Amino acid sequence: MRAAAPGPCVLVIFGASGDLTRRKLIPALYDLFQRRQMPDRFAILGVSRSPMGNDAFREHLREWAAKFAHSHSDEAWRAFADRVHYCAADAAEPGAFAAIGAGIERAGERHACASSILFYLAVAPQLYLPIIDNIAASGLVTEGKRWCSINTETLPWQRIIVEKPFGVDLESARTLNRALGRTFEEESIYRIDHYLGKELVQNLLVLRFANTIFEPLWNRRYIDHVQITAAEEVGVESRGAFYDEAGAVRDMIQSHLLQVLALAAMEPPARYEDTAIRREKIKVTEAIRVVSPQEASARCAMGQYGAGPRSDKSYREARGVAPGSETETFAAIRFDIDNWRWSGVPFFVRTGKAMARKLTEVALTFRQPPIELFSTLREAHPSCGSRPPNRLIINIQPEEGISLRFEGKVPGEMRIESVKLDFDYVARFGGEPIEAYGPLILDAMRGDQTLFKHRDEVEGAWSAVMPFLDPALRRGIAGNYRAGSWGPRESEILLARSGCSWHNPGIEETR
Ligand SMILES: NC(=O)c1ccc[n+]([C@@H]2O[C@H](COP(=O)([O-])OP(=O)(O)OC[C@H]3O[C@@H](n4cnc5c(N)ncnc54)[C@H](OP(=O)(O)O)[C@@H]3O)[C@@H](O)[C@H]2O)c1
Repeated sequence: MRAAAPGPCVLVIFGASGDLTRRKLIPALYDLFQRRQMPDRFAILGVSRSPMGNDAFREHLREWAAKFAHSHSDEAWRAFADRVHYCAADAAEPGAFAAIGAGIERAGERHACASSILFYLAVAPQLYLPIIDNIAASGLVTEGKRWCSINTETLPWQRIIVEKPFGVDLESARTLNRALGRTFEEESIYRIDHYLGKELVQNLLVLRFANTIFEPLWNRRYIDHVQITAAEEVGVESRGAFYDEAGAVRDMIQSHLLQVLALAAMEPPARYEDTAIRREKIKVTEAIRVVSPQEASARCAMGQYGAGPRSDKSYREARGVAPGSETETFAAIRFDIDNWRWSGVPFFVRTGKAMARKLTEVALTFRQPPIELFSTLREAHPSCGSRPPNRLIINIQPEEGISLRFEGKVPGEMRIESVKLDFDYVARFGGEPIEAYGPLILDAMRGDQTLFKHRDEVEGAWSAVMPFLDPALRRGIAGNYRAGSWGPRESEILLARSGCSWHNPGIEETR
């Protein structure tokens, strides 16, 4: 991956008065600024309709930055806020771009960072298309077809970061990709996935490709099945209205968990470089079997939480949720990857709200040894009978670490017990929370697309989940699992059909 310095640019945030900007983007940028990681020359131009001047905008952001940034001082804020400007405009109106263009020019000249522009779409998804079309019509994107430029490295650039959700289905994602592609080269489009933090990606790549011992076993010969879990303890809380339109498959599986699956399943990239890594991820996404609507019901389990120990209100009683809603707050899906490495190995992906505990992990269960050597001792020593298979768990949240379960002999007697090798990242390396947005924006300024999704990945992930969006799969799910449990019974049945069971660690268990 290129570690080039981020280039001088004007960052134009559409949706400047909104929640994402004040709670995430500005605090993350302010943190980077204080750590001297921002480019020497940069400016930020916020765009939204609320009438405000520069000073009022800076004042509005100050309290949020003080609250959400890791450190804050009046002096640092003054220096940072000097780079922040505001343009009150309706970005969905083509006429607004004269003022926006002038704002970019002024900010660029003042901070000597004119010509390169990073657009950030932090607005509601229905505004993506009109704003992209208006950017196209404004003439602000001048970079043209980079592949036929003489020296792309020396040209000013224009890039765009697009927030999630990226479409609501395959068709809308394609429409959005086409609109983006009319104006920007694919290498200038940054489809952000803040969930896919740098740490997770790098940890998985290092574990797999900086060691000799795992990769030879990482295939259909030795792996029985793979489980990817992202469970949340909380319910929908105040996001009921948004969530009710989306549901677990759109909100988590299509957008995030298929990315984790791609990292766990991809081939080794030829180089540690963004294009090489993305190429391998695309190949996995394309190999995920797209099942027929008839097959889908036997390959998934949908759920919606009812009241339980984690919440005295059911999902349907949450604010913003439609009465009688059949939106799933839990989904478990079996995916198959039809390629040489993974043919026949099920990948079970599940996610849910109001679950027994917060947990994000990838668990690989190995096949049993070819011969049960110790089974002849079973009568005298019952523990020598069938033993649990080896299992490798990569825990992403809440306690980042890796554990390997294997079988060991108890000293002094012929008894076998499962034991664990456990590696805890924080205990070993120490750690401080890493806010995903800052490093991602810096990557976009550098031109590093490793952590951003390619058009083909997004469309591949939509193709894979489309059969599971059928409303018929959600009929009658209301209250089929209690808040605070591991999801509906159907989820256990889904795995039992393949002779597997979920890894549901107890509340005290780390991995
Ligand atoms: N909030 C989060 O934590 C979060 C996390 C992940 C993804 N996202 C995504 O980020 C996007 C923004 O979310 P949000 O929570 O920040 O929404 P929000 O609080 O509703 O903010 C929307 C922003 O868009 C502006 N806006 C609306 N119409 C506009 C127009 N025609 N021209 C220019 N600006 C306009 C609004 O300001 P005015 O009313 O002043 O115009 C406001 O600043 C969404 O796509 C969301 O899915 C958000």
